[in-house]
Amino acid sequence: ESSYLLKGKKVLISAGPTREKIDPVRFFTNHSTGKMGFALAEEAARLGAEVTLVSGPVQLETPRGVYRVNVTSAAEMYDQMLVHYPGKDIVIKSAAVADYRPVQTFDKKLKKQKDQLAVEMERTTDILKELGNKKDKQYLVGFAAETNDVIDYGKTKLVSKNLDAIVINDVTVEGAGFASDTNQVIYLNSRGIEKHLAIASKKNIARKLFELINEDLKDEPK
Ligand code: PMT
Repeated sequence: ESSYLLKGKKVLISAGPTREKIDPVRFFTNHSTGKMGFALAEEAARLGAEVTLVSGPVQLETPRGVYRVNVTSAAEMYDQMLVHYPGKDIVIKSAAVADYRPVQTFDKKLKKQKDQLAVEMERTTDILKELGNKKDKQYLVGFAAETNDVIDYGKTKLVSKNLDAIVINDVTVEGAGFASDTNQVIYLNSRGIEKHLAIASKKNIARKLFELINEDLKDEPK
């Protein structure tokens, strides 16, 4: 039955931004609101899946029937994604994880400097890449937020992170990407299928993505 497309499936989704602390009052982050990831979680639950949602700090209510785990930093998201990864059938990383964090953090508020302040940053772990290395039966789907050469960069991420599919999000398109209620994406799978999804609500985009993922799972049972 199509309304229970994901019955019996275990789905893990990451959503939202991460926050990388500098001191007790300051952090680095990005524009993600969690809307895309929460739409995926809500839709997966509605389609009959057992859903775990690992979320960065966002202002959204937990969708009905979804098990939610809250995290703040990229390091915490990494830990929780690894905890919940085993045994999942479908894993989708829509979170906008910080690529860099401050090398040094301060327990007391940093006082104003006389002139410029340089904050040295170091790379965070690429969670998706780690999950790609540890893949068992999971159908692993990444997102790619891009501003230019979107298909080329998306393809590179699909291959380098050992993904089964990638959802490419050109964040320069009006009404798509960060914070909007709508989105427009390109779905690319590892067998070279490329589907352009027209602008629609994030809920409808989520529904279409699960239909495409489900087709892939049928074509290539794991
Ligand atoms: O939350 P909204 O406001 O609704 O916005 C939705 C969105 C624009 C955030 C979403 O649609 C989106 O594109 N998410 C991916 C954002 C992103 O960080 O893309 P990226 O190209 O930098 O990363 C590629 C992939 O690697 C992503 O799946 C990301 O989760 C993952 N990654 C990145 C860095 C890192 N350290 N660990 C990761 O796992």
